[in-house]
Amino acid sequence: MLKYIGGKKLIAKSLAMVMSEYEKKYNIESGLDRDYMRTYFEPCCGMASVASHMPHTNIILNDINPNVICLIDGVLNNFYSSPFSQLTKSQYISLKHQAYPSCDKSFYGFSSFRASWFGGSGDYKNGRRSTISTNIDNIKKFKEKMVGKNITLHNQSYDELTFEPENMLIYCDPPYKYSLGRMKGFLNSFEHDRFWDIIRRWSAKNLVFISETKAPVDFKVLWEKNTVSSLTHKTKVERLYIHKPC
Ligand SMILES: C[S@@+](CC[C@H](N)C(=O)[O-])C[C@H]1O[C@@H](n2cnc3c(N)ncnc32)[C@H](O)[C@@H]1O
Repeated sequence: MLKYIGGKKLIAKSLAMVMSEYEKKYNIESGLDRDYMRTYFEPCCGMASVASHMPHTNIILNDINPNVICLIDGVLNNFYSSPFSQLTKSQYISLKHQAYPSCDKSFYGFSSFRASWFGGSGDYKNGRRSTISTNIDNIKKFKEKMVGKNITLHNQSYDELTFEPENMLIYCDPPYKYSLGRMKGFLNSFEHDRFWDIIRRWSAKNLVFISETKAPVDFKVLWEKNTVSSLTHKTKVERLYIHKPC
């Protein structure tokens, strides 16, 4: 939905195409109808940019960050639509330090200076007007893409879910192990070895795809692309993995 550092907005369409095509091929090989679609599940959904490009009707979105789920809920259920294009310094500081999650905190947190969570510091960094305006449009586009979908939202840690996924198409975009842009409070405690173990378990009963820059040896690269961040202008390789034990 929103454009921000760490989001997959710029490559979401490509990722969605690769996963959908893989699902079709897998269906044919499994004797299923080519267009059979599983429930789509994103356990670390962030702003759900990839979900909005998937053709699936049944969608489950989960994120540990309550601000993330609050904003998606607000947009999908019509209680958040038109944020203002600028914030005053006192509004900015008050949102940054607000103790409870809210759509505004989420929207301006991700759309603020350099489009990283509240600019990554305690200073007043009002967002570039262009980023905020772009994200106001992005909210509307996201909502349009999600019309007619059956969407369930969860706000849990992916490893403490109240359900065990089965026969789903799962797209995981976890905090990258070697990423520098970490969001204080939620990501520092991410246990990467535990993550890959859970992905191995899920992969036995689901089609699971993972975005990362590196993965253990029993995971294979399905797709990769050099990308340049329009926000930081840094180059990196984006990779999509699947579990393929030898
Ligand atoms: C790289 S971002 C996902 C970006 C998303 N694909 C997008 O395009 O906006 C990683 C997400 O993982 C979430 N996260 C971190 N730890 C988590 C956990 N234990 N369980 C669920 N989500 C988690 C973060 O809150 C963050 O939104």
